[in-house]
Amino acid sequence: MKSVAKYYDENSLWFGLWERTSGPIPVHRRVWAPNVRSGRAALDYVHSAVATIARKRGVASVIDLGCGTGALLSFLHNHTGVPHLMGVTASRVQASEARRWMGVRDGSTERWEVRVGDFLAPGLIRADHRPRIFTAIESMVHAPSARAFLQAVADAAEPGDELFVCDDFLAAGVRSCRVVDRFRAGWRAPAVTTVADLLIAAEATGWQLVDAQDWTPWVHQPSRAVAQLFDLASGALHGLSRFPFVGNLSGGAALRAGYGMGIFSYRVLRLRKAAA
Ligand SMILES: C[S@@+](CC[C@H](N)C(=O)[O-])C[C@H]1O[C@@H](n2cnc3c(N)ncnc32)[C@H](O)[C@@H]1O
Repeated sequence: MKSVAKYYDENSLWFGLWERTSGPIPVHRRVWAPNVRSGRAALDYVHSAVATIARKRGVASVIDLGCGTGALLSFLHNHTGVPHLMGVTASRVQASEARRWMGVRDGSTERWEVRVGDFLAPGLIRADHRPRIFTAIESMVHAPSARAFLQAVADAAEPGDELFVCDDFLAAGVRSCRVVDRFRAGWRAPAVTTVADLLIAAEATGWQLVDAQDWTPWVHQPSRAVAQLFDLASGALHGLSRFPFVGNLSGGAALRAGYGMGIFSYRVLRLRKAAA
C-alpha cells in the first residue's frame, strides 16, 4: 500500500496537467461507446453506469474504493440523490484534492466523506448506510491480489450489497509475459488477472456474478505497429520503474502495447454478496 500511496502522491500533479475541468479529474480511461461524443462524456461513461445502478437499486450509500480525487463521488453528488457518498484513497494528495472539491460543491462533509488509508484494512471501508454499492474503478489491480481485494470487500459487505469493478484484465489464458510484467511493475498493479480467475476468487469469497460487460472495443487500442513502439519504450524505461514518474510511463507504455497485442481487455463486472 505504501508504494501505491507514493506512486499517486508523486504522480497526481502529472495526471491533471493536461486536463481543464470544473471538477475532480478522473484517473481512468475514456470509454468511447457508440453514443459518446465528447472526451468529457467518455470519462463520465463509467460514472453514468454507476449512477444508473444506484438509481435503479435505490442505494443509500456508494463506497468508492480507490476514489482518486473524487470524480465519481462528484458525479453522483450532481446526478443522483444517493444520500451517503464515501471514498477511500491511499494517497493524501488525492484525498486533499477530493476534499477541496467537496467544499466547492456544498461546503459540508455530511453527504460526501473521504478517508485516507488501505481499503484492505479491516474497518476502513465499513459504513452504516444500506443497501450499498462498493465501486472499484481501475483500483482493484493495485491490491496484492484479486482474491485479497474481494475478501476485504466481502468482509465489509452485507448480503445483497454490490461490488462494481471496472478495470484492466488479462485476456483468457494469459498470466504473465513481458508486457504484463512491465505493466505490473510500472503501475504497481500486481492483481491484474483474467476474468475467469477473478470469478473463481469471487465465488470463493462469497460473491455472485450479476453482470459482465466487455468495454475493450471502446477504449483506445493502438495498431500492432504502434504497439511495438510502446513495447520498445516500456522496455527502455522498465529498469527505472521504481521511480513513480518513470513507472507511470513504463507501465502505461506496456499497457498500450498489451492492448495493441490483444493481451489486455477492459471489463466491467457487477457482483452481489451472497447470503451466508
Ligand atoms: C487509477 S486510480 C483510479 C481513481 C478513481 N477510481 C478514478 O477512476 O478516477 C487508482 C486509485 O486506487 C487507489 N488505491 C490503490 N490501492 C489502494 C489501497 N490499497 N487502498 C486505498 N486506495 C487504493 C489509489 O489511491 C487511487 O486513488
